[in-house]
Amino acid sequence: MAEFIFAEYCDILDVAKKNFSYGNTVTLRFGPDICPIRKGLVTQDYNLIQFILNSRKLIKKSENYIFLKKWLGNGLLISDGDYWKRHRKILTPAFHFEILKNFVEVFEAAGDVLMEKLQKYDEVATVDLDILITLYTLDVICETAMGTKINAQSGQNIAYVESVRNMCKTVIERAFSPIKVFDQLYWLTGDYYKQQKALKILHGFTLNVINSKKDNPVRNDEKKTAFLDLLLKFSQKDDVLSISELREEVDTFMFEGHDTTASGICFALYCLADHPEVQEKVFQEQKEIFEDWKNPETTYSDLQKMKYLECVLKETLRLYPSVPVIGRYTTEEMNFDGYVIPKNTNIVIFIYGLHRNPDYFPEPEEFKPERFENFNNSLPFSNIPFSAGPRNCIGQKFAMLEMKSVISKIVRQFEIKPTVPRHEVQLSPETVLKSGNGVKVTLKKRN
Ligand code: HEM
Repeated sequence: MAEFIFAEYCDILDVAKKNFSYGNTVTLRFGPDICPIRKGLVTQDYNLIQFILNSRKLIKKSENYIFLKKWLGNGLLISDGDYWKRHRKILTPAFHFEILKNFVEVFEAAGDVLMEKLQKYDEVATVDLDILITLYTLDVICETAMGTKINAQSGQNIAYVESVRNMCKTVIERAFSPIKVFDQLYWLTGDYYKQQKALKILHGFTLNVINSKKDNPVRNDEKKTAFLDLLLKFSQKDDVLSISELREEVDTFMFEGHDTTASGICFALYCLADHPEVQEKVFQEQKEIFEDWKNPETTYSDLQKMKYLECVLKETLRLYPSVPVIGRYTTEEMNFDGYVIPKNTNIVIFIYGLHRNPDYFPEPEEFKPERFENFNNSLPFSNIPFSAGPRNCIGQKFAMLEMKSVISKIVRQFEIKPTVPRHEVQLSPETVLKSGNGVKVTLKKRN
């Protein structure tokens, strides 16, 4: 079953497609034995995925995550054991809906800036949504995570914005490169210097914000409290987080919390362009929710009412999961269904493949949001864009609210159409699933 692949950059989607012809779980080798993290188990099997994600013993992340360590340290995404448990407990209240409610204002204000920018694309043949939406999600995550406006959409703080982009790109390139995977060889590459420069800017920025917040704590009557303010508050009450622990958690939000939502928003708009009947239903739902649908003040409760848009987002994340693969590492021998998974095995869960299994989703390649109107909850692990179990995505409610907020704005103001000729996205799993050739559509202002 094993296949030997040795390429400068190997495409996990392609590799998986070829190898799953052997079955839903395969062992895979990405390089020679001397490569430290090149071997593992890759699975898109429902039962095995359920077993792994439900297990309290399998919470350690696979070795590929090591490349994020320089940036995110022991942040929630990559830490494990009691350290992870303690931090998850401290961070969880920051994602309570009472807190998230107050972020709607931030989503809306950043969305208004985006709408201003989109005006000039009215009836222009092609608009590439990728960078426009990524700058929007960066503005949102900076303000919600740190309480600091970076105005990325207005072209400010370019060094910081570019450093975030560069880090996301170089980290994944390294994870898939048989050369850059070795420290000694990596240090000889231009990417290493790019990364060192980016790290200095990123850590410097976050530490500055933390230090100024420590000196000027947020007042209790302030409504829009950033995650960082909450962490400062919670950590002082129960369990104190050090400055570097705070920095690592905020940087983790910066990493996990902007490219993922940008990818979801872009693919959702792309699917709406391709499916005018679905787009019309989304638009009609907006008109039902808002009396003044052109220019409403959107609240948390309005976003809650967008049930059909929610199905559209679920279907988008089924077909284009922002995080197409996740990894775990066995710290002891595990038994599953008569098989032994040895200690020290890297396991890759192939969410992308699971989501396209015709046993759970008939006509899996078709975009059909209606399938989520009556989703069969007896198979909860068939659709896991936010992962599942104890290490699921802590930001999933935040993400759904943000994506709804901006898509609802765009659909109310513009009709989204495919470009002529139709732009075909080329899927490229960077740290998140992206389109390597952009996400291009045409926008036409509604009357
Ligand atoms: C469409 C948007 C998003 C998707 C599809 C997504 C998906 C995921 C997935 C699949 C995981 C599990 C990763 C793994 O096991 O390696 C995860 C973890 C995580 N996500 Fe998200 N995410 C999204 C948005 C966000 C946002 C907006 C935030 C923060 C504001 C966030 C913060 C995190 C954190 C901190 C973890 C680690 C949780 C832990 O291990 O305890 N995510 N996300």
